[in-house]
Amino acid sequence: MKTTLYWFSGTGNSLWAARHLAARLGETTLLPVAGMRTAPLPPSERVGIVFPVLAFGPPNIIMEFCAKADLPPSAYLFTLCTMGGLAGAPHGRLRRILRARGLDPAAGWSLTMPGNCITLYPPPKESRQRRLFERAARKIERIAEAMREGRRGRFEDSPPPLSWLGAGLNPLAMKRFPREDKRFSATERCTRCGLCARVCPVGNIALEAGAPRWGGRCEQCYACINWCPAGAIETGWITRGRRRYHHPEVRAQELCLRAPDKTPDAHEQA
Ligand SMILES: Cc1cc2nc3c(=O)[nH]c(=O)nc-3n(C[C@H](O)[C@H](O)[C@H](O)COP(=O)(O)O)c2cc1C
Ligand code: SF4
Ligand code: SF4
Repeated sequence: MKTTLYWFSGTGNSLWAARHLAARLGETTLLPVAGMRTAPLPPSERVGIVFPVLAFGPPNIIMEFCAKADLPPSAYLFTLCTMGGLAGAPHGRLRRILRARGLDPAAGWSLTMPGNCITLYPPPKESRQRRLFERAARKIERIAEAMREGRRGRFEDSPPPLSWLGAGLNPLAMKRFPREDKRFSATERCTRCGLCARVCPVGNIALEAGAPRWGGRCEQCYACINWCPAGAIETGWITRGRRRYHHPEVRAQELCLRAPDKTPDAHEQA
């Protein structure tokens, strides 16, 4: 049975989860959501949408994808989020969007992974990260089994009242998020390597004399902050001196959806 997994990922957790699930299912195509939001899908009997929870719900790009993508109505459709531990209501929000289009998702799973929201907290220690990866891998086995049996699963949002809180807060945050990149800046540690621009899934970073400039179309995935090899990107004082995080089995290149020569220049984006 053919499966397509659409993924969106800032620091690799969701890409790792998608890859892990693909290996358990076989015959799976992995496609990045970024840049392919309305492209027709390859024929598949199962379609999954894999993404990180941001502010108790799905990222803007995932909601847009669910609203517009050419998804086959007869497929076994599911959502799978990775999160730092407090899901809120990501699956409920997406389910409503999909149902309004006559699509009927079968399940919504949530995986706890290391939190990458370094404006709020530092990443967990490596020993804790390893335990989270092992636990997530075991859960992915169970998800793959449920999918092979075509089971309709649970939608793993937080229980009320946290899901209500998530459903209320996420739309407010998503409205603000595109312009929240005004808090980002590159310090004197910047070596002008250009990686932040390449790793940004939505091409929101232009290089101005080699240094990043943000464009106000941010998804707040924190890829740029976490992948910068010099630790040069800060959001004010809050991230200073804080360790950065990315999934240890994912390389920055795997998240670079743009060819290096296509990295937008400041004047191109202006
Ligand atoms: C701006 C931002 C907001 C986040 N909000 C939440 C949240 O509300 N609940 C949660 O459990 N994790 C939250 N996280 C953590 C991510 O969901 C989690 O680390 C996820 O696995 C990252 O996946 P990725 O590496 O594929 O981007 C947030 C992360 C960021 C950057
Ligand atoms: S990744 Fe870091 S060092 Fe490289 S250009 Fe961006 S801010 Fe500068
Ligand atoms: S600018 Fe940074 S945080 Fe915003 S979408 Fe791009 S990589 Fe993610």
